Amino acid sequence: MAKTALITGILGQDGPYLSKLLLAKGYKVYGMIRRYSNPNFETLDYLEITDKIEFIEGDMGDESSLMNVVRTVRPDEVYNLAAQSFVGDSWQMAKLTTEVNALGVLYLLNSLKIFSPTTKFYQASTSEMFGLGNTHGYQDEKTSFHPRSPYGIAKVYAHWMTVNFRESYGLFTASGILFNHESPVRGKQFVTRKITDGAARIKYGLAKKINLGNLDAKRDWGFAGDYAEAMYLMLQQDKADDYVIGTGQNHSVKEFVELAFKYAEIPDWKKYIVIDPRFKRPAEVYELKAKPEKALKILGWRPKVTFAELVKMMVKADMKRVKTLLV
Ligand code: NAP
Ligand code: GDD
Repeated sequence: MAKTALITGILGQDGPYLSKLLLAKGYKVYGMIRRYSNPNFETLDYLEITDKIEFIEGDMGDESSLMNVVRTVRPDEVYNLAAQSFVGDSWQMAKLTTEVNALGVLYLLNSLKIFSPTTKFYQASTSEMFGLGNTHGYQDEKTSFHPRSPYGIAKVYAHWMTVNFRESYGLFTASGILFNHESPVRGKQFVTRKITDGAARIKYGLAKKINLGNLDAKRDWGFAGDYAEAMYLMLQQDKADDYVIGTGQNHSVKEFVELAFKYAEIPDWKKYIVIDPRFKRPAEVYELKAKPEKALKILGWRPKVTFAELVKMMVKADMKRVKTLLV
């Protein structure tokens, strides 16, 4: 019989890439969405899989809705991708971010414990939990957490709750500590897509500039499709565990801008970038760089898309999309 997977946050960036992978492996995929009355299927449409998903309504802020979803589906695997995932908004929306990203995970774990204790559970944890924490210039599973945003703090709670359900009740709960990963369906509030969309608009005369914050911040950027594979692999192990997933290399926002403008064939990128204090954060995470040795060794996972290929892929997709707006 086909395996079943429930994906929360299926309408975001990662949900479609993970769905595509699971569908290709023969899974029946259930996608939890907040409201069926007005869903935005743009990211699933981009990967041409919308009609292959069975949707079910639920909200991370509502425990009874999660109980209902778990009791109805009783999937083999749950991938919890739902979150208020934009760090920049999390200071203004600290309570909502905590309710969805921290308490929501507790509700979901409780639902599994009561209605489907043999389900394997994946929690979308993040390198943002490390914040200022680093071990000789990189972060791995042993690095201590020093989160810098309400988002990071809520995710630390969810991470430890995931570990605790494993240790307390023997549930198969894995926490994937993923570094930044991007794609052509990345939300436009995140810096990479803001840059590639902005560069494409400048190229075709629809915009004159891009307003950005801290150009010196460094991130370990990978491709979302590669990271979906790591999520899947974590739930195929005999034993649940936690894994750092990243490329092991980092680049500054400035480097990302330079490369994006190069691929968009716009000379002199400095003419188009405006430093805008509104996009600077009250507490910045200056630098993140993964050491994904454990994942490489135990999961046999490898990132396939390089930084340059990622920037090129995103610029190309945005140029194509923006061009269609001209007619
Ligand atoms: P995303 O594009 O922001 O998608 C998040 C999804 O969560 C959206 O579809 C959103 O639904 C849904 N959601 C938000 N609040 C909800 C609620 N109260 N109930 C149910 N669903 C809700 O995020 P992503 O980039 O795909 O990332 C997936 C997960 O990985 C997130 O948990 C994120 O924090 C984590 N993560 C991401 C990265 C990265 O670099 N992308 C790195 C590490 C960890 P709507 O469509 O209805 O708004
Ligand atoms: N969004 C944004 N907009 N970021 C900017 C801007 C801007 O105009 N200018 C500079 N930055 C800097 C931010 O200050 C940050 O240092 C870096 O660019 C990356 O910002 P984001 O793309 O918003 O991503 P993030 O690193 O804060 O968070 C993403 O990655 C996390 C994993 O480390 C999100 O996907 C999180 O959900 C995820 O957990």
